[in-house]
Amino acid sequence: MKFFIDTANLEEIKRFKQLGVLDGVTTNPSLAAREAGDFRQLIADICELVQGPVSAEVLATDADRMFAEARELATISPHVVVKLPTTREGIRALARCVDAGIRTNMTLVFQPLQALIVARMGATYVSPFLGRLDDIGHDSMDLLQAIRDIYDNYDFMTEILAASLRHPLHVVEAARIGADVATLPPAVFDRLLDHPLTDIGLQRFLADWKKARG
Ligand code: E4P
Repeated sequence: MKFFIDTANLEEIKRFKQLGVLDGVTTNPSLAAREAGDFRQLIADICELVQGPVSAEVLATDADRMFAEARELATISPHVVVKLPTTREGIRALARCVDAGIRTNMTLVFQPLQALIVARMGATYVSPFLGRLDDIGHDSMDLLQAIRDIYDNYDFMTEILAASLRHPLHVVEAARIGADVATLPPAVFDRLLDHPLTDIGLQRFLADWKKARG
């Protein structure tokens, strides 16, 4: 499973890049709005830093303007993946992006048929928002499993990007189901390697060595 980070903050991205397991970045308008400066320059800087897929979302809600924005975003860097909402207009824009060779990330997916349709149309990534489903009392992993089953039945090329992850167990469950990518908020990325027994065990090894060897 690939790891993306779900932030538009360059300092956070730099911090996680140093770990050596960062494959890409997802942003959305809420995340980008928190960062100062020009959006286009921000996406260019993130692409330069990551040298991997960077999702940048359109703001338009009708297909014509979404496609115009998608074309503009795609000129920023070959690493840009255009994020489109999975609405009827978004689907129409997706068709045009596929024809134009623009890579896409279909976002705000909450049910399996949305995922089936975008895969049939040739989306690069599909983003089921798992945490937001759990927030309203649904079992988000049922959705992820359904998408995995459907995609495996038809050998679709679209990659499943598990999004809206809230805690490390979400990442474990997404990996067990076979999500191709997990996009992690920094707070979850920070906790991927943590276990108190690892810290206690290391302290004990070092203390035993010191006691015996001085
Ligand atoms: C993914 O691409 C989205 O930006 C993100 O995962 C949304 O997460 P949230 O539900 O925590 O806002």
